[in-house]
Amino acid sequence: MDFLNKYNNVLQEYLDNAVAQKEPHQLYDPIKYILSLGGKRLRPILTLMVCDFFGTDFKKSIHAALAVELFHNFSLIHDDIMDNAPLRRGQKTVHEKWDVSTAILSGDAMLILAYQFFENYEPKMFQELAKLFSQTALQVCEGQQHDMDFETRDDVTLVEYIKMIDHKTAVLVGAAMKMGAIVAEASENDKDKIYQFGRNLGIAFQLQDDYLDVFGNPQTFGKQVGGDIISNKKTFLYLMAVGQGSSVQAEELEHLFSINPKDPTDKISTVREIFLTSGAAEATRDEIEKYSNHAYSLLETIHISEEKKEMLHQFGNSLMQRNV
Ligand code: IPE
Ligand code: IPE
Ligand code: MG
Ligand code: MG
Ligand code: MG
Repeated sequence: MDFLNKYNNVLQEYLDNAVAQKEPHQLYDPIKYILSLGGKRLRPILTLMVCDFFGTDFKKSIHAALAVELFHNFSLIHDDIMDNAPLRRGQKTVHEKWDVSTAILSGDAMLILAYQFFENYEPKMFQELAKLFSQTALQVCEGQQHDMDFETRDDVTLVEYIKMIDHKTAVLVGAAMKMGAIVAEASENDKDKIYQFGRNLGIAFQLQDDYLDVFGNPQTFGKQVGGDIISNKKTFLYLMAVGQGSSVQAEELEHLFSINPKDPTDKISTVREIFLTSGAAEATRDEIEKYSNHAYSLLETIHISEEKKEMLHQFGNSLMQRNV
């Protein structure tokens, strides 16, 4: 997708200079580190792309794009502590490379740095962006708390799960896009529609993340494969397998998701097998398609050219076909 190059290039240039190398090193080094590991950068690219598509110089939205990417990286540093994750983007997580206290404080600093980027906008736009940002950040915390609570609950429903991923992941994708529309001063209706588009795409994106956590290739995934199974995460895969599998499979899963074996190898392979044979893996792929298609139908109602809709469609499809 060559049309992404212009956004990527500008973003990279600004990201390289986004955080000054200051004292104390122990605070700023981890920030530099996590940003240097890259990642897909899908959220800031969406901010820039949407601003562009609504007819405004996309560089005007660079500060909002940086804010979103810094917030996202902050949330990953803290998420990796909470999930006890050893790997991020193919390298050691911040709390493993340094320690938990360092990861907490560097994460906090990143959140503040993210907010600071909005100071580059005039008061009216600043207020609209900051308001959306605060609302989104709080929802992410709510989603993250539900995610943690679900680890030890055995009565999580599909509706609760979708609400949880909507909050921990999808609202930020929606907000990233809406910020591009805010900077471009799009109509209220278009701002709302692009937000809903991003949110549905975000739900599909998190379902795909959960799928890759189980079925991803350890050589290329960049995160610990099976991490969600080790942590007893009640994902769509798990809930569908319990619901659709035989009673023997359901009982085995419920048992496996109530224990924390020292060596999780057998647990992971058994769970993976049940996810496949129960039809849960296929049901998850169907669900990803359902949310993606809903997103694409919302796209139809937005006032941008067909060509631009097609680019957003393509971008969405590439996210659902990814392997990292
Ligand atoms: C990881 O996000 C956290 C989720 C919300 C699933 P990404 O998959 O966008 O991570 P990077 O930024 O590309 O590494
Ligand atoms: C992360 O969800 C959501 C946030 C960071 C807010 P996950 O815990 O599934 O993300 P990964 O798989 O660690 O990237
Ligand atoms: Mg995690
Ligand atoms: Mg998590
Ligand atoms: Mg995950």
